[in-house]
Amino acid sequence: MRTKIVAGNWKMNKTATETASLLTELSGMLPDTGARVMVAPTFVNLAEAVRLMVNSKIEVVGQNMHFEESGAFTGEISAAMLKDIGVEAVILGHSERRAYFGEDDALLAKKVAQAIAQGMEVIFCFGEELEERKSGKHFEVVSAQLKNALFALPGEAWKQIILAYEPVWAIGTGETASPEQAQEMHAHIRAVITEKYGDDIAANCSVLYGGSVKPGNAAEIFSKPDVDGGLIGGASLKADDFMAIVEAAS
Ligand code: G3P
Repeated sequence: MRTKIVAGNWKMNKTATETASLLTELSGMLPDTGARVMVAPTFVNLAEAVRLMVNSKIEVVGQNMHFEESGAFTGEISAAMLKDIGVEAVILGHSERRAYFGEDDALLAKKVAQAIAQGMEVIFCFGEELEERKSGKHFEVVSAQLKNALFALPGEAWKQIILAYEPVWAIGTGETASPEQAQEMHAHIRAVITEKYGDDIAANCSVLYGGSVKPGNAAEIFSKPDVDGGLIGGASLKADDFMAIVEAAS
């Protein structure tokens, strides 16, 4: 049985004071839905976030990491640095990393391999562009993103993988995929994993939806059989909205 997961990707938002304020608010509002709840503040605020959440069920997640263990990579963060401050999971492959920082499938395969080797959980993001969906290539694109970045992993590594399907045309646009579109793609994703790794790994892999999830649409999207929760951007920055989405994951 897959656990529902709701993760908030804060992106480049919230100062240290704002982070502490939001986390304190969230920890006091957490409903007992059985869903895993994660937040991904910016790097500079991660250690304090972990300290603040030490007695909370809210898990603190990194937004990115480098694929090397250490070295001359100015501005980068390693898996060991994340683990050293108590961060055990990391978002990789977000479309903004791909678009603005040139992260391609080959680079992401190295990042995923390093995170898995370090015993971290990975929230792996992928999804098609609007033109790819309009031209009917969205299934082909998503299959390739999964295969190129993840299919060199051994089966046992998949217990550390959480997938996040984020159609790029839905991110930050208010143009949410319909529940039917989400279910159709999530079922395709699960079928692609089944073909490579078999039923057990596919059935136990949490596949989140991301892209303009809001309190008003979360419940219907999360009700779909192959949707196991959401990766939330804008709506994760407001306590009431994020908690309403967590409630919808019950
Ligand atoms: O990683 C989640 C994010 O890309 C979704 O953003 O603002 O559409 O919820 P948003």
